[in-house]
Amino acid sequence: MPTTSIKEVAQRAGVSLGTVSNVLNRPDMVAPATRQKVLDAIAALGYVRNDSARQLRAGRSRTIAVVVLDVANPFFTDVIRGAEEAAEARGAMVMVCDSGSDAARERRYLERLEEQRVQGVLITPIDEGPASRLDGLVARGTPVVLVDRVSGTRDWCSVSVDDVLGGRLAGEHLVATGHRRVAYVGGPASIPQVADRLAGFTTAVEGRAQLTVVTTSHLTVAAGRAAAATLVGTASAVFCANDLLALGVLQEMTLRGLRVPEDLAIVGYDDIEFAAAAAVPLSSVRQPRELLGRTAAELLLAETTDDAHEHRQVVFQPELVVRESTTRRSGPPPHRPR
Ligand code: RIB
Repeated sequence: MPTTSIKEVAQRAGVSLGTVSNVLNRPDMVAPATRQKVLDAIAALGYVRNDSARQLRAGRSRTIAVVVLDVANPFFTDVIRGAEEAAEARGAMVMVCDSGSDAARERRYLERLEEQRVQGVLITPIDEGPASRLDGLVARGTPVVLVDRVSGTRDWCSVSVDDVLGGRLAGEHLVATGHRRVAYVGGPASIPQVADRLAGFTTAVEGRAQLTVVTTSHLTVAAGRAAAATLVGTASAVFCANDLLALGVLQEMTLRGLRVPEDLAIVGYDDIEFAAAAAVPLSSVRQPRELLGRTAAELLLAETTDDAHEHRQVVFQPELVVRESTTRRSGPPPHRPR
């Protein structure tokens, strides 16, 4: 007789796979009425949980996977370092996967990681719709923690930064330093953290400065350089969705013989190590990168060992770090040997 799947139970009860998994593993997490619907569906379908899956979980490798959008972005290098620190402290190790912001590649990685029986997956999803891709993974026993993204459901933990506040801090700083024509450089808007930064920035400058939005296809130095060409003459200050874009804008301005901040003030986001080390040190909205990674790994490992684990959505606060790329230097610009 064919066995009933957890998916059929979810469909019968009209709930997500993650909710069925919670009823089976953490029933107290589910509202009584919903829990009863699931139990009724289990009884009606004669579903029997697959304990071998749980036994396999017990025998899982002591490896956690970290799936990032762009391994070349120092933001993720620091996140990975934090995750490694937490994993090592608990006798686990980290496997890094670079989705390259590509949906097919992200899906392939998730399939392989499940086959590899990893302990769990930390992931910065490529867009705002990860639930459909992660539901099955979680329902079949591989825990997930979203990194750099607030979770829209209670089926997993998430660790993120308040990016709307981060965008607002950047906007308030540029208005306070006298800018009335500002630009936002970032994209694609399908990445929620990019959209949230623009939302916060827009709120801060609305009615106080003219805003130009320059959408980029990627969050890279090259995309920043290309965007900078459109900024000259349209804005006196720019807020970039991350530091790589900001470094690209800075490089392009320098190559054009234009001065920062005199001809264009620049604010980045992440405060990676290269922001402070740039030719004109970058003002940037700092994210606690290693803390993000460490916290996400600790939540994931707690979920694999603690049956009473409750999913949490941890949100950290950003911090504006002001440097020379937005503060007008008094007197002539310092001599900079070529
Ligand atoms: O992944 C792209 C960007 O989103 C990173 O630079 C970092 O800002 C993250 O929040």
